[in-house]
Amino acid sequence: MFPRWANYLLPLLVVGAFGAALYLPALVTLGLSPKATDVGYAPEQPIPYSHALHAGQLGMDCRYCHTTVERAGFAAVPATQTCMNCHSYVKKNDASGNPNNKLAALYESWQTGKPVEWVKIHDLPDYSYFNHSAHVNKGVGCTTCHGRIDRMEVVYQAEPMNMAWCLECHREPEKFLRPADQVTNMGFQAEDVDLTNPEIAAEIRRIHEMTADQKITQDALGSHLREKYGIKGSEFMTSCSTCHR
Ligand code: HEC
Ligand code: HEC
Ligand code: HEC
Ligand code: HEC
Ligand code: HEC
Repeated sequence: MFPRWANYLLPLLVVGAFGAALYLPALVTLGLSPKATDVGYAPEQPIPYSHALHAGQLGMDCRYCHTTVERAGFAAVPATQTCMNCHSYVKKNDASGNPNNKLAALYESWQTGKPVEWVKIHDLPDYSYFNHSAHVNKGVGCTTCHGRIDRMEVVYQAEPMNMAWCLECHREPEKFLRPADQVTNMGFQAEDVDLTNPEIAAEIRRIHEMTADQKITQDALGSHLREKYGIKGSEFMTSCSTCHR
């Protein structure tokens, strides 16, 4: 009934089914534990550090502090030294010359050498795998997953970050892609590509035979970038082993 080589597949299938039988209930049990954080979670931090001020008003790029996002899975939270590049002289004292209360914990960390104990906000369960560089270098912007951080006084979790949410994009990433050098641009929209990346805009206009006054849509931009960046197909993007390894 089956060709001979099929015999060799059987042991593999059995092991596979067995593995899955053990693995999936384990996942379900872990999934029910209340470890994963949820939308709106905004714990109090040891220093009243504001992204709205530093990333918004002062216009600092995310990568000045989160230095590893482009090359590592983990997006490092900055060391005290990074803050002290400015705060060794900015707002050291308040108007009457006393040490600035809001910065007291920062100076203490600086003097003792003990890192500031920032409370982690986004936290996936350990059985799921996530990697920042894999997303950022393929044109998924910080805002798509974290919301308008540049407007947050206190960071909160803006998206559910559950499996359905991950899959919504993994099934149709073209709905969200932007040029990779625009990932930290908080207000980026597809129609801005004429200004930010004129060469990409020109390619899209040529392919779609668009005139200069027609706006570039997310559909056109996303499908172009999906091909340009060689984004893998839906088999890889939705396979269990991509995120559970
Ligand atoms: C001056 C340094 C600095 C800059 C610039 C900065 N951040 Fe942060 N970021 C921090 C610090 C410190 C924390 C930890 C305290 C907190 O959550 O507010 C943090 C926390 C975060 C968190 C939450 C991490 C967690 O625990 O889950 C996200 C997400 C984040 N930043 C994104 C961004 C984005 C996006 C930008 C650019 C728009 C940015 N940051 C710019 C210093 C910075
Ligand atoms: C590029 C320079 C720069 C860096 C780096 C920087 N800050 Fe600031 N920060 C400022 C400036 C400028 C202000 C004051 C703005 C104003 O009120 O005039 C400020 C204000 C603050 C305040 C408010 C102080 C108050 O009295 O209102 C806190 C708290 C603070 N920063 C914490 C941090 C922390 C923590 C880090 C590191 C994660 C950091 N800053 C990194 C420039 C910087
Ligand atoms: C595809 C979605 C996605 C994108 C894009 C993304 N993040 Fe995240 N970020 C996450 C998830 C998910 C976590 C929680 C990771 C975990 O718990 O393992 C996280 C956690 C963080 C943290 C906490 C430290 C860590 O790695 O757990 C910081 C800081 C952060 N992100 C900053 C950024 C910045 C800055 C950008 C843009 C340059 C960015 N993120 C882009 C999904 C994303
Ligand atoms: C807005 C779109 C988007 C969201 C949301 C998103 N991803 Fe992705 N993900 C991508 C893209 C694009 C790639 C790159 C695929 C490629 O390189 O071909 C990717 C790749 C990956 C990879 C493969 C990385 C590697 O090193 O091979 C993993 C794992 C992954 N994502 C996990 C997650 C998890 C877990 C979540 C939810 C917490 C998530 N993603 C949310 C778009 C997204
Ligand atoms: C794009 C990434 C991604 C893919 C692909 C993926 N998962 Fe998940 N999965 C996650 C994340 C992230 C969580 C954690 C959800 C949370 O924290 O609420 C999760 C949680 C789970 C859970 C725990 C219960 C739950 O729903 O929260 C089970 C069971 C699970 N996954 C099974 C699977 C199976 C089976 C497949 C293949 C059909 C699969 N996953 C494919 C990212 C993924």
